[in-house]
Amino acid sequence: MQYGYFNDDLREYVITTPRTPLPWINYLGNRDFFSLISNTAGGYSFYKDAKLRRLTRYRYNACPPDQNGRYYYIKDGSCVWNPGWQPTQTELDRYTCRHGLGYTVISGEKNGVSAELTCFVPLNDPCEVNRLVLENRSAEIKDLDIFSLVEFCLWNAVDDATNFQRNYNTGEVEVDGSAIYHITEYRERRNHYAVFAVNTAIEGFDTSRDAFCGPYRGFSSPETVCNGCSKNSIAHGWAPVGSHHIRLHLQPGEKRSLLFVLAYIENPLEEKWEAPGVIAKIRAKELLARYREDQQAEFAFAELHNYWSGLLNRFSVCTGDEKLDRMVNVWNQYQCMVTFNLSRSASYFESGTGRGMGFRDSCQDLLGFVHLVPSRARQRILDIAATQFEDGSAYHQYQPLTKKGNSDIGSGFNDDPLWLIACVSAYLRETGDFSILQENVPFQNDEKKVRPLLEHLRRSFDFTVSRKGPHGLPLIGRADWNDCLNLNCFSTEPGESFQTCSNMESRKAESVFIAGMFVKYGGEYADLCDWLGDTAEAARARAEIEKVRTATETSGWDGEWFLRAYDAFGKPVGSRTCEEGQIYIEPQGMCVMAGIGVENGLADKALNSVMERLETPYGVMLLQPAYTCYHAELGEITSYPPGYKENASIFCHNNPWISCAEAVLGHGERAFHIYRLTCPAYVEAFSEIHRTEPYVYSQTVAGSDAKTFGEAKNSWLTGSAAWNFVNISQYILGIRPGLEGLEIDPCIPRWMKGFTVHRVYRGANYYITVDNTAGVEKGVAAMKVNGRPVAGNRVLLENARSEYNVEVIMG
Ligand code: GLC
Ligand code: GLC
Repeated sequence: MQYGYFNDDLREYVITTPRTPLPWINYLGNRDFFSLISNTAGGYSFYKDAKLRRLTRYRYNACPPDQNGRYYYIKDGSCVWNPGWQPTQTELDRYTCRHGLGYTVISGEKNGVSAELTCFVPLNDPCEVNRLVLENRSAEIKDLDIFSLVEFCLWNAVDDATNFQRNYNTGEVEVDGSAIYHITEYRERRNHYAVFAVNTAIEGFDTSRDAFCGPYRGFSSPETVCNGCSKNSIAHGWAPVGSHHIRLHLQPGEKRSLLFVLAYIENPLEEKWEAPGVIAKIRAKELLARYREDQQAEFAFAELHNYWSGLLNRFSVCTGDEKLDRMVNVWNQYQCMVTFNLSRSASYFESGTGRGMGFRDSCQDLLGFVHLVPSRARQRILDIAATQFEDGSAYHQYQPLTKKGNSDIGSGFNDDPLWLIACVSAYLRETGDFSILQENVPFQNDEKKVRPLLEHLRRSFDFTVSRKGPHGLPLIGRADWNDCLNLNCFSTEPGESFQTCSNMESRKAESVFIAGMFVKYGGEYADLCDWLGDTAEAARARAEIEKVRTATETSGWDGEWFLRAYDAFGKPVGSRTCEEGQIYIEPQGMCVMAGIGVENGLADKALNSVMERLETPYGVMLLQPAYTCYHAELGEITSYPPGYKENASIFCHNNPWISCAEAVLGHGERAFHIYRLTCPAYVEAFSEIHRTEPYVYSQTVAGSDAKTFGEAKNSWLTGSAAWNFVNISQYILGIRPGLEGLEIDPCIPRWMKGFTVHRVYRGANYYITVDNTAGVEKGVAAMKVNGRPVAGNRVLLENARSEYNVEVIMG
């Protein structure tokens, strides 16, 4: 069952009922100002940091769900409704929500009045624009009362939800014409405020939530709206809101457009006030003046549209499979941009108050983003690397506002450093910009400890080299990619964080997954050293890699698959000798991607075991059998009920690793089959089971042990986006950036008789045609570049050439 459909021409997902299984959301904003918006106009806005600069309030875990948003009430006689159905939930005669790239359009119709609400964040201003167009489609004159509503957050979202003894006293506003200023704490240390304004004269306003709602009433039937009259309330403490009242008299067929703007304004300290006690409004007025006329808003909207067309034009495919094409050309890349911007900070499942940017998360997000805006990827790499410690380890998270490492969680996740190599290598292969390696980057954000980025990579590499356990495999530390495999933690205290507790530094617990990573990304480091002419360092690195490869093939092999780890007592984890948790997905994917066991058959065996033991119709589970009870020696992974999260759900992030691994072995049918299982556009058909948005990946899907097998959770902010894009673009379609240029190495199902790709790469346009009339799964039989046959499958760079025509014949 579906709750909407894709409109490929407009690059939109069109939702046709407000009653989706869960709120289905979109992201507005690209750089500094962001909003989340659901299909019923729920959500909130923030500037740069969802914790520290929250503009509007949102109630997570609310009942009914999804409160609050930017709400527009329409009072038509005694009927009060919202174009997005919430919060009044008045039945609409017609409803659609169109989520597009950086914008959302919600349309509702009731009793002959239609309302279309277009919400977007312009490219160049820190604000959300809401254009509300009302049309009288009836044969009578309509006298309508329109009320807007946003509820302000008192900036720090954690304080806002906890520190009531203070908060109820601090709230302040100023009203100036049609502009409502939220100025809480501006009197003291803040030099920023929010403004919510409309481009027309107003009948009245409210800024006090209590006045707007009335005693013991909520946003579903606020007194102001039901009475058709604002109270011109001024908030003193309690809960400041912004609400305008506008009266419209519409002839049959008449249309009116209103422009509302919610903006974040920052003033230099010395220009905070225009008169004693009066905030300086000049910057706010300048911004608002840019969205006064419809044409201005239309222009900003068109700019946004062109921006996205330009970005998506950098990689597009035509395969003839419309689901595949829409994922590759639009939605997967779109989600990659969102995860790049927000890491794991603010979604409908991440409150925006906890983790800022994850080190490993952001490094991986880059893998799917770097081709879109390489210059932003470059800056991100330098920011991330600057949080690294001198010994190569890394803060696990950092705050986007300060860009400083987060000491609450600290360090000790031993996979983290290697992800830095992964993303720098991806950046270099994409751009050829080797100058980044010479950039001076501090350790621990300390300007006195500055070293070139290349030195950061060396320390990442050596971090693993110098931390190995009894089997010669890398030590796991607090955890590796799997945050919940906590082999040194032994927690018995309810509520204690598994992420920070480590009360047994065994120096024994080892990770086969990190071993795989080390062989793969260590190998990329060695290639890089060779490329730079440092053959001695390359040889040293390769010798270290060989040791770990050998250790993996011997001590990391269980007979039919790769082991997952050794615990603090040296007992194997993810072995047939275990009662539960006998096989894990991560090392099978990562080790095969690294090439371990490819020559001697271990890789084939490992992937067969994955197919037999972990695959389901909804994707590949993380482990089997699921853990049925808590094991202190394994940690958080066993805290989840069977089938959920790391305990044997389908964790979408690592499914592409299996697909990539199948491609490494040349299994095009299997690679594509695995890709499809979790791919949103294919999953759309059973949205009532899957429940999250059918246009983006979710973090997990309940596994076969769960009562809700097939149900997804934690949509949007997941490494699944980047990894699936890497998988489909580089492994399956096989358009792979290398240090010397593009390599073409498709691995596709036999029925796919060919495809074309347009890709912008290092400033040139590549038009690639792949012919698979032969119906093979892998193998380039012949290739021509610009009409000339070439040996091999590499497109060498030619000076000053802006267009490459590449014809590939598989066979
Ligand atoms: C979450 C984390 C990610 C981790 C994964 C597996 O998605 O953001 O860093 O690798 O869970 O535990
Ligand atoms: C929990 C989650 C895991 C996440 C971690 C860090 O352990 O299960 O997915 O990575 O928290 O927040």
